[in-house]
Amino acid sequence: MSAATIAFQKPVLPEAGIVVLLAGDGAALGPLAGELDTATGGTLARAIAAAAYKGKQFAVLDLIAPAGSSLDRVLVVGLGKPAEMTEYDWTRLGGAIAGKLGEIKAEAATLVVERPDGVAIEAVQAADIALGASLRHYRFDRYKTKKKDDEANGAKGLKLSLAVEGHAAAKKAWAGRQAVADGVTIARDLVIEPPNVLSPEEFARRAKELQKLGVEVEILTEKEMKKLGMGAFLGVGQGSTRPPRLVVMRWNGGKEKDQPIAFIGKGVVFDTGGISIKPAAGMEDMKGDMAGAACVTGLMHALAARKAKANVIGAIGLVENMPDGNAQRPGDIVTSMSGQTIEIINTDAEGRLVLADVVWYVQDRFKPRFMLDLATLTGAILVALGKSHAGLFSTSDELAAQVSAAGEATGERVWRMPLGPDYDKMIDSTFADMKNTGGRYGGSITAAQFIKRFTNDVPWVHLDIAGTGMEASASEINKAWSSGWGVRLLDRMVKDNYEG
Ligand code: BES
Ligand code: MN
Ligand code: ZN
Repeated sequence: MSAATIAFQKPVLPEAGIVVLLAGDGAALGPLAGELDTATGGTLARAIAAAAYKGKQFAVLDLIAPAGSSLDRVLVVGLGKPAEMTEYDWTRLGGAIAGKLGEIKAEAATLVVERPDGVAIEAVQAADIALGASLRHYRFDRYKTKKKDDEANGAKGLKLSLAVEGHAAAKKAWAGRQAVADGVTIARDLVIEPPNVLSPEEFARRAKELQKLGVEVEILTEKEMKKLGMGAFLGVGQGSTRPPRLVVMRWNGGKEKDQPIAFIGKGVVFDTGGISIKPAAGMEDMKGDMAGAACVTGLMHALAARKAKANVIGAIGLVENMPDGNAQRPGDIVTSMSGQTIEIINTDAEGRLVLADVVWYVQDRFKPRFMLDLATLTGAILVALGKSHAGLFSTSDELAAQVSAAGEATGERVWRMPLGPDYDKMIDSTFADMKNTGGRYGGSITAAQFIKRFTNDVPWVHLDIAGTGMEASASEINKAWSSGWGVRLLDRMVKDNYEG
């Protein structure tokens, strides 16, 4: 749910309404901002001096109805040092601007995109600003019957027009980013949606909507999964009255003979822990235990909407983990689709059980170049990395490097964690081929080792997003409970390495 309308226009000052100007270090202004200062008889420069405004990164100077101009409001937003700004900084700038516009309940504004240091703005930089503004404008208010008076409930929509040199090229660069922004919105909505509404079936129905964009969507039911022998996946859903679903999405934008790449998401729509039930405090957050699946769904939207030149599989395992008379028990032994048997030690280590069968199924059916899974898998990754990096585990240095580079570029950062035979040993079981937990130490690593046993040596990346996928830390481009983490990261990874 987001309603920022972005437009691009030629670089001239607006005659009315709200204008946003950019200032550099020391409050240096660009030529159009200088024009406005002249038109207002130096009001702008006087205000800047009076407020001791220095143009620090994202700092705002807010002038209401400046004398000598027909404008309602002038906002000056700081760039800091424009020459040092990264792609992610331009995106954050857009977010900071949209945040301020939300705060003042602006319905429309013109943003003058120019640099005070005489260097031309690149089309992609203007488009990155637009992306940040669009992402920040997000709100989730589907269930609010009374609106609070805050930024998120400002004006209904925001019309932001970017006045920039080379506006046609900027608009073109924005088109691809808009597809990504919409994918992020889809992911955020799915993560925040309450678990009574978002059952596995409802999630599958929403994924099916991607068909409108040309994505092929297949939904496997419990019966079909049983036939395939997915005993690990199905065991998790046994205690729920709401049946599981396996959704396979396919975007074929590449050459026909190109081997696909595959993204796989954990989609536990609610994780009570099952019979190994979780404590009550904070359990409501476990509605977000499908953030991996949400990311994959948002990513498939983005790829299809921008017509990515790649063949991509998106597979999500949707299931609810509930305690019940029919729920699986600690001590149960289940047989996975791969034929390997698993002793259940803790029914709360359910994500890896879902992934075991989905990962096996994807490699078996599609023979992908690589597989990448995302899962809110372990609390231990929060202990290790906190909330600003996801844990990355991989059997391929090349893939790990690709994802890390995309993470630095998009600000959705990852940190590589180790794998190895010593960790693998920790999940050997006395009674079955393996057990579903490896004890207290290295909990995120043993979880990754578990999934690795189902990759059949296909190059693989696992992202543990328990820290980043839900209850997001606030940033310039997101204030919501979910940032839609991973959509921008993976879209970039695909774009940089697997298109064309
Ligand atoms: N969904 C949880 C992991 C999680 C924790 C996600 C916190 C987001 C925030 C996962 O299914 C789980 O319960 N993991 C257990 C594994 C343990 C039983 C081996 C955990 O991390 O405690
Ligand atoms: Mn769990
Ligand atoms: Zn879980």
